[in-house]
Amino acid sequence: MDGNGRWAKAHGVPRVMGHNAGMQAMKKIVIATSNMGIKYLTVYAFSTENWKRSTEEVSGIFNLIVKYVNSELEELDENNVHINIFGEYDMLPKASVDAINKMVGRLADNDGLVFNIALNYGGRDEILRSVKALIAEGKDPDGLTEDDISKHLYSGSAHFDVPDPDLIIRTSGEERMSNFLTWQAAYSELMFTDTLWPDFAPEEYAEMIESYSNRDRRFGGRKEADK
Ligand code: IPE
Ligand code: MG
Repeated sequence: MDGNGRWAKAHGVPRVMGHNAGMQAMKKIVIATSNMGIKYLTVYAFSTENWKRSTEEVSGIFNLIVKYVNSELEELDENNVHINIFGEYDMLPKASVDAINKMVGRLADNDGLVFNIALNYGGRDEILRSVKALIAEGKDPDGLTEDDISKHLYSGSAHFDVPDPDLIIRTSGEERMSNFLTWQAAYSELMFTDTLWPDFAPEEYAEMIESYSNRDRRFGGRKEADK
């Protein structure tokens, strides 16, 4: 969800207001995803690298989590949304940790949209954790499979097994992966837009989903028609 800072600058407001606008955009995208019947959505909310930002900005983002939970929990539940957190969040301020636990707990039995929030998440860190867990289990290296690694990632150990993403959308004109779902993204389709995240609306999202549905995915194989 990139471009909150630039949006704030363009509107002459503090960065944290850009993050607030980004949260409003996210609310609409979550509901739009659920309405389109898409089963999984993962957003990159805070990376392991985002700690490098000012304390003011970081705590502003964490405060928004509490605000989000307070304003959205009912609607998320009404929409049967289930939430997984990808990342370790126990070191966040207590109010944020409590809000997250309340939200995850309340939505635990829902089986509609599986909404994954990558929070204090890093793709390489996730792979490293998986490998460490496998070593700790005493896994025999000769028998180790890709599936073993997948199963120990946040996506593989979540309540609902989360499949690899079909489509990854990056906003604000940036064209890099920035440590997002590094393992899972091996065959994902990628789309880029110059739209800053706070301006990313369900209409543009729906157009991208439509355009995605026309892509030909071969996963390293050949076109069905050529076989
Ligand atoms: C993304 O927006 C939101 C987070 C990283 C939490 P940015 O804050 O990176 O926005 P820009 O890149 O400065 O515009
Ligand atoms: Mg950015």
